[in-house]
Amino acid sequence: MIRIEILEVPLPSVREHLADYENLFVVCDRHVSGLAETLKLPAAGWKVIDANEERKTMETVLEIQRWLMNAGADRDAFLLGIGGGVTTDLTGFTASIYKRGIRFGFLPTTLLAQVDASIGGKNGVNLDDFKNMIGVIRQPEMTFLCPEVLETLPYRQFLSGAAELLKTFLIDNTDGHYEKAVDLLGQIHAATDPAAAIRSQTIPLRNLIAAAARIKAGVVQRDPDERGERRILNLGHTFAHAIEKHSAGKIPHGEAVAIGIVLAARLSEAEGLARHGLAGQLTEDFQRCGLPVTCPCPVRELSEAMKKDKKAEGSFIHFVLPIEIGHVEIRNLSPEAVILALK
Ligand SMILES: NC(=O)c1ccc[n+]([C@@H]2O[C@H](COP(=O)([O-])OP(=O)(O)OC[C@H]3O[C@@H](n4cnc5c(N)ncnc54)[C@H](O)[C@@H]3O)[C@@H](O)[C@H]2O)c1
Ligand SMILES: [Zn+2]
Repeated sequence: MIRIEILEVPLPSVREHLADYENLFVVCDRHVSGLAETLKLPAAGWKVIDANEERKTMETVLEIQRWLMNAGADRDAFLLGIGGGVTTDLTGFTASIYKRGIRFGFLPTTLLAQVDASIGGKNGVNLDDFKNMIGVIRQPEMTFLCPEVLETLPYRQFLSGAAELLKTFLIDNTDGHYEKAVDLLGQIHAATDPAAAIRSQTIPLRNLIAAAARIKAGVVQRDPDERGERRILNLGHTFAHAIEKHSAGKIPHGEAVAIGIVLAARLSEAEGLARHGLAGQLTEDFQRCGLPVTCPCPVRELSEAMKKDKKAEGSFIHFVLPIEIGHVEIRNLSPEAVILALK
């Protein structure tokens, strides 16, 4: 079984964990470059990048590769990516192909990257308008989870990650984390200063983040190449990708996921799978957490985009449907049947 190492540590301890790494190179998102002072890593090189979807390309990968080469990074170099999902995807991919693969690790600095992007070994970049077209599956040596880095994260970015956090607990709610997450996110959202509320809730937040990261890691360990079980992590995503496309990028990924999960629950009820009322409950919970729940267009307008989704096989799409909180199932449905059910 593949090994996925998740280390929940206070920021200053990251240095101790990396003390013996002689050839340490760091790629860091400009928005968190101030972390260099707190971390005081024994790095041989430190490269600051502008992390955004437009820069998540082969050009940036090559730029990092040239920087590594010029800095003398050899096969035993270790590359640490510090930033959100754009940075961890870029770093993981660069490390995977530099000199046929060097070791790498992540210090994710967005909630989305902590619970999702930095876990699971999918690393890659965009090609033209197509997201994550080029990439590999290769696991980081470790992922550091340090919730204090979220203190500077804009609240809207935090919400995007919150949707993925809730998604994870809808897949596996063994320890009742879903209810705890709704309570905590609800409190943060109701606070006059959400950023201050996030700071005051570091410990319960850290526990939820670690739980979600470990649930994802467990799924990935059982199915690293996404041949079966790993697909459940796509809950809400077929709708979400179509909504993101339809809104021409105006609706951020996490918010589209929240809407997509509610649609999946409605579909599941219509198919007679979920208990009656599940979609209504999720709608209330998500709204309490500050997440959107209403599809910005008639569902039939999502049909074309859904057909192009990578989860489509022939005229059927693999839909992940919530059955109950903590339990999902996959069904193959045609977009036409979905639209009819959601009328
Ligand atoms: N590999 C995977 O399995 C996987 C899974 C989900 C998403 N992703 C990828 O992750 C990316 C989205 O991740 P994201 O939402 O973290 O995006 P991101 O990396 O673009 O970060 C969002 C924004 O927040 C800024 N930022 C990051 N940390 C900050 C902090 N602590 N304080 C202030 N600003 C901060 C970034 O500079 C950026 O402007 C997408 O490219 C997506 O494809 C990958
Ligand atoms: Zn997602």
